[in-house]
Amino acid sequence: MWKGGECGVTSEDVERTVPDVSDQPLDRLMRLDGRTAVVTGGARNIGLAIASRLAEAGARVVIADADGPEAELGAEYVRSRGGIATSIAVDVRDSDAVRTLADAVVEQFGGVDIWVNNAGMFPTRGFLEMSDADWDATVELNLRGTFLGCREAARRMVAAERGGVIVNIASAAAFRSSGIELSHYVASKFGVRGLTQALAVELGRHGIRVIGVAPTYIERRERDVLHIASPTAGRERRPPHLLFHLPLGREGVPDDVARVVLFCASDLALLLTGSPILVDAGQLAV
Ligand SMILES: NC(=O)c1ccc[n+]([C@@H]2O[C@H](COP(=O)([O-])OP(=O)(O)OC[C@H]3O[C@@H](n4cnc5c(N)ncnc54)[C@H](O)[C@@H]3O)[C@@H](O)[C@H]2O)c1
Repeated sequence: MWKGGECGVTSEDVERTVPDVSDQPLDRLMRLDGRTAVVTGGARNIGLAIASRLAEAGARVVIADADGPEAELGAEYVRSRGGIATSIAVDVRDSDAVRTLADAVVEQFGGVDIWVNNAGMFPTRGFLEMSDADWDATVELNLRGTFLGCREAARRMVAAERGGVIVNIASAAAFRSSGIELSHYVASKFGVRGLTQALAVELGRHGIRVIGVAPTYIERRERDVLHIASPTAGRERRPPHLLFHLPLGREGVPDDVARVVLFCASDLALLLTGSPILVDAGQLAV
């Protein structure tokens, strides 16, 4: 039965949703010590930057990526920076594989506290030429992959009765189609944004926060320079007319997204759920 306008919260739920942490010092609120985080598509670029920052804050990180050897190189990179990380080869479009991943994480680490659905693709195809396969491939990875990750994470978090955070990497394209040949991508990311909002409503009573992070253009970076600041980062990689539409004047780098994900995952953001957080250099303000 449809329960319009209801969130299903009962007085018993309130105790276990989100505590008031007003008396906690900032350095403790941003730490993730003792928590376990899964990052899908975490072998490189945005996903690896997220894994690295979550580990830097103290989380045990599981890099789950379709490319097993690259995932292990990513985990090695995180460990080389002092973090705790393991890797696992997983295709996020495969229901059984995602269930097995979630079970393995619970068995190995005793639970899952943070789950970042980052694996995604950014294909281009003119709408008139769009094949069924083009459409399905994009929606299957970007939207179905996010759905499967959310479901398996939420089931483990509800069973453990200790809440959790799910972060879904959407895109500025989840708000506005910013170019041609992107209909499949835009539709998939609007879907991720809608799923995030719906799950925040449905899972809030379990103390599970579900947040979207929506980046603008993000420069792709090699692993060895992922955390090396470059004053020219991104300047030459995109056509100038694209950067002209960004009020802050540069496209993002993976760590720009990772720091926002860390904020969302941390207790700094304890009352934040359901929102899509734009990391867009002001793109949508124009
Ligand atoms: N780069 C950008 O400009 C940008 C902008 C907005 C949003 N995003 C989003 O950020 C996320 C990451 O983007 P990126 O540029 O770092 O991507 P990327 O292509 O550099 O990395 C994606 C990672 O996902 C993995 N992957 C691909 N298919 C998979 C599958 N089926 N199962 C598991 N892992 C799989 C890849 O092996 C790779 O390691 C995506 O969801 C993307 O849509 C990116």
